[in-house]
Amino acid sequence: MKERQFLSIIQGTLYCVCAVTVLVVAATVFILLPEGVTQDENSTEPVVGVVDVEAKKDDVWLPPDSSFIPKASNAALVAYGKELVSHTAVYLGPRGKVMTISNGMNCQNCHLKSGTKPFGNHYGAVAPNYPKFRARSGTIENVEKRVNDCIERSLNGQKLDTGSREMKAFVAYILWVGQEVPKGSIPKGAGLWELKPMDRAADPAKGMYVYQKNCLICHGENAGGEKFPEGIEWKYPPLAGENSYNVGAGLYRLSRFAGFVKTNMPHGTTYEKAVLTDEEAWDVAAYINSLPRPTRDLSQDWPDISTKPFDHPFGPYADGFSEQQHKYGPFEPIKLASKKNN
Ligand code: HEC
Ligand code: HEC
Repeated sequence: MKERQFLSIIQGTLYCVCAVTVLVVAATVFILLPEGVTQDENSTEPVVGVVDVEAKKDDVWLPPDSSFIPKASNAALVAYGKELVSHTAVYLGPRGKVMTISNGMNCQNCHLKSGTKPFGNHYGAVAPNYPKFRARSGTIENVEKRVNDCIERSLNGQKLDTGSREMKAFVAYILWVGQEVPKGSIPKGAGLWELKPMDRAADPAKGMYVYQKNCLICHGENAGGEKFPEGIEWKYPPLAGENSYNVGAGLYRLSRFAGFVKTNMPHGTTYEKAVLTDEEAWDVAAYINSLPRPTRDLSQDWPDISTKPFDHPFGPYADGFSEQQHKYGPFEPIKLASKKNN
């Protein structure tokens, strides 16, 4: 009898312990449930732009997944815009089926993953900030103007008619990417990585070695790239030569090129695990941007020359530094001087 009593006390205690454990676990899961996957209780719809918890730790904003496009009110246009960003050459390149106005590159070659990759030049800062004043043109630019800028410079082409279905689609998609971002803010991970400056000039000769070791296997001899066998899109896009971006493009500025490469190249690299050191990125940028490429008349750019970025490689300048130093650095003295003047 005593034994039985003893056993039932033990049993009771065990039940208690179990119940408490279950409660504690449930409460913990509930409290730790990451914000991104919490669901609105009144809705069975998943939250748009559900985020990856790992990436959220350092506050990097992730653009919405393209599987949400069909939910947009202008879904067909947004979907066409994504297609144009991803396969520009098929529609607008030298053998394009809609128009032949650009050099055969895809927007996605530089705006990775259809313009949605963190620190891969994504479009998340466009919807909340345009129209905006840009010093390069000295005017307030809308999204159409900015898209045409990349077509005329990065794709070395002719601008699209603002009323065209293609332009409307580009704009619809780019705005869709950043639709959730609060007005006036720049989400972390938009655009390009800012590298630490070097105290020396970037060196094309050193950069050539970086290129041979890390890039040549894909981008090829003379950085001329390689096309897919059908001959329309690039398997490995050109970094220099007649099919590449022209001297008016963003990547022709050393800090833009180096920042892009640091977090994205060799292909597959992410900002969480860069392959090149900052020095290697600066030097390979110097090497590539010392190679021949298409030119462009830039005489209308930066009507106020004092607003030229430190690494804009064409004078005249408001400071006393040479075109050579504005192209390759060292940039710190230039930045310091411009701070003093402002
Ligand atoms: C050769 C590389 C390259 C290609 C190809 C390219 N771009 Fe760009 N684009 C850039 C760079 C570099 C920037 C400026 C990024 C910075 O300074 O942070 C930029 C900026 C932009 C911006 C402004 C982003 C912002 O946050 O203000 C838009 C919009 C844009 N590009 C659209 C396009 C579209 C559409 C295409 C294809 C028709 C395209 N780009 C093709 C390199 C490229
Ligand atoms: C494994 C192959 C591979 C390697 C290695 C590689 N790239 Fe790329 N690179 C690509 C591909 C593919 C793209 C286009 C990405 C896309 O469309 O999604 C690209 C795009 C680029 C672009 C933007 C588009 C353009 O043509 O201007 C630049 C700049 C670039 N790479 C530079 C480099 C540099 C510098 C290195 C060496 C540090 C490098 N890449 C190494 C495959 C590679």
